[in-house]
Amino acid sequence: MDGRDVVRAVQSVGVVGTAQGLRSVRAAWRRRRTDAWGLPRRTGERARVPGPVTGVEPGPGGGVVRFARSQLQVTVTGGGAVFWGWDGAGVQPSYAVPGAGPEPDPRAVLEPDTKGGWRVVSERVTVVVSRHGAVEVCTPGGVVLRRDLPPRWWAPESGGEARWVQRSEVAADARFFGLGGRASGPRLRDGAYRLWNTDPGGSFGPEDDPLSLTMPVQLVVADAGTHLVFHDNTWDGTVTLREGDEGAGSGHDRPGGCEVRMSGGPLRCWVVVGTPARVLGAWAALTGAPAVPPAWALGYQHARWGFGSAAEVRRVVAGYRERGLPLDAVHLDIDHFDGHRVFTVDRERFPDLPKLATELADDGVRLVSIVDPAVKADPGTDLYASGRGVDAFVRDRRGKEVRGEVWPGESVFPDFTSPLVRGWWGQQYEERLAQGFEGFWHDMNEPVSFTAFGDPTLPRSARHAVEGRGGDHREAHNVYGLCMAQAGYEGLRKLRPDVRPFLFSRSGWAGLQRYGGTWSGDVATGWPGLRASLSLVLGLGLCGVPYSGPDVGGFDGSPSPELYVRWLQLASYLPLFRTHSALRAGRREPWEFGPAALEHARVVLDERHRLQPYLVTLAHLAQATGAPYVRPLWWSAPEDRALRDCEDAFLLGDALLVAPVLEGGTDRRAVRLPRGRWYDAVSGAVHEGPGQVLLDAPLSRIPVLVRAGAVVPVRGADGSVELEAWAPARGRTGGGLVVRDAGDGWEQPEIERYATRWDGDAVVVERETDEGPVAVQDAVRVRGVAP
Ligand code: GLC
Repeated sequence: MDGRDVVRAVQSVGVVGTAQGLRSVRAAWRRRRTDAWGLPRRTGERARVPGPVTGVEPGPGGGVVRFARSQLQVTVTGGGAVFWGWDGAGVQPSYAVPGAGPEPDPRAVLEPDTKGGWRVVSERVTVVVSRHGAVEVCTPGGVVLRRDLPPRWWAPESGGEARWVQRSEVAADARFFGLGGRASGPRLRDGAYRLWNTDPGGSFGPEDDPLSLTMPVQLVVADAGTHLVFHDNTWDGTVTLREGDEGAGSGHDRPGGCEVRMSGGPLRCWVVVGTPARVLGAWAALTGAPAVPPAWALGYQHARWGFGSAAEVRRVVAGYRERGLPLDAVHLDIDHFDGHRVFTVDRERFPDLPKLATELADDGVRLVSIVDPAVKADPGTDLYASGRGVDAFVRDRRGKEVRGEVWPGESVFPDFTSPLVRGWWGQQYEERLAQGFEGFWHDMNEPVSFTAFGDPTLPRSARHAVEGRGGDHREAHNVYGLCMAQAGYEGLRKLRPDVRPFLFSRSGWAGLQRYGGTWSGDVATGWPGLRASLSLVLGLGLCGVPYSGPDVGGFDGSPSPELYVRWLQLASYLPLFRTHSALRAGRREPWEFGPAALEHARVVLDERHRLQPYLVTLAHLAQATGAPYVRPLWWSAPEDRALRDCEDAFLLGDALLVAPVLEGGTDRRAVRLPRGRWYDAVSGAVHEGPGQVLLDAPLSRIPVLVRAGAVVPVRGADGSVELEAWAPARGRTGGGLVVRDAGDGWEQPEIERYATRWDGDAVVVERETDEGPVAVQDAVRVRGVAP
């Protein structure tokens, strides 16, 4: 037990309530005992390195390089992605990569390198393997982007999984991003980042790590180029990063360092090189295109833990309507369940949910349901009984169900790593659909079991199907949420084949975007929590999960009106725009913060409503290209170091630059601009980048700038989509892509291309068609044409 454990133990007995608290102490001991006899004892270990090269075997896109004590398969693929695996590790089986991966590049061949090494040369990348097993990834020009030193393994003498370490060097100027959702980013500074999805057990701030959604995906950005590296391994591990130092003429450069240390599982890795846009495109091709949420899920949503009754839901929705505030969805938390049991309804407090859902739908408001994985271990309940019928629940080594402590009390956990169990779980959403729910919010799926000390999750020795291969929680833990998302997504596709499923999940792993999005979890109310909100969305987007957002106002406590307004302003430019708060926390309705805050909130909600067509466009483009909606300022200029270090502003698509206010008592802020002309979205004032400008940021609004030449689809006063075109700089051209909402089904709407240019004193907007440019007459508003 460390200090945090002691605090948790005391809290669990004192605060959670004695009965549950005592059960969580018992759960912790039980888990310890289970692991004590369930896990192989680590006695002696034998260290190993690859040793000297002994031969090669060419294959498609590269081949196998043999060493005295290991072997390395290297495959360069057509799209600029490189795979390598040690000790016979191949692309499959993988939870992240659903298919066989991209085709090997037929032109890439394995050839001898200097000093007894080997190399694979291709159009976009060169991979050099040294005589002792160091691997270098280089640009075609020969600049090294990443140098992996020979790995080292420690295998238990009694057999079983070897742990391993892989040390790498990157350029001295490189910056690290990603590793899933990290509250201290987006730039990942020197330190150790654990790969083990964890509920921090209370609300979190920037100093808390890891959180619910970790993944071994890093985006490394340096002058020489950008690359993504993915260690396809689901086990517990730690990535230690150290940014480099440049000698600045007076000394030597110290390269940046990355050390990946894993407790088991394969040593295999994907590296993708190219511009950020290319890299994210290749990553989406590898791990799956992001699901497109329905248009309403790109509006404004209100959640609350503790609505407590249907009457209260009606009261809150009416509150929005009476004040003319847009609202697209309401989320019901665990308090609408009967005894906190998933897939049930407390009929006393929510007597007729389908009626409530219909009423709300008439008002344009959708209902979203929380779904927790833990099933109350009560033989008298249908869900438990039916789960047992298909042997759905995780067991220990001796075959006993693993019990944990979650909201409904003593619970069992579906094994989502079994296709059969996923099928069974997917069927349960039928009950939710019948209640009128349209969207799903997966929670507590790290998975969480409240324990008074130690890891608040299942015992590591707990058995899992792992797709029929068999394994334990050490391997399955990090993909538990991902597999639950797959279960929900596939179940919903079967139940409602004509409607795209909408779900977002607290936990997950590489590839989550195939099924849905995520949210930040229980971010702490306070200015640091506001900053963490942006860090999480940016970092996750760079790992391929583009749809996410925070609990506006923070999860716990009561934000000041100022903090609430600033949070609302930031989140209104993030994909998931949702207020939410804990059971005993203050309210988050805009009218609870006084008349001034209400008026500021109105501006925010109206503007989000107006921009919804742009968000719909970005959702489709994310699916088509892998580009996240929310991008760092360096997205198109990764070589610009000042932009690389800018963490407090972001791009929303190609057109908008958003500069949120992340500290209190401020009414101005400095904004670093990428190259080109930028207009203030409200005043039309012109700013020229690159450079830094100081902008007004009164409480009534945060600075939002629009790129000159952009075409932005917005909702017009009559509800139809209008195009807002911003004048290009004189002598220049611009343009934009637009994708219109085609309903909640599967129809693939066309990507419309627009161009803007000057013609004399007028700005002309044209649609690019196969027959050439066609002038757009209707519903275009040209802005930024200075007198
Ligand atoms: C977890 C979730 C939170 C939810 C609560 C009750 O803390 O992160 O969003 O309100 O559980 O279900």
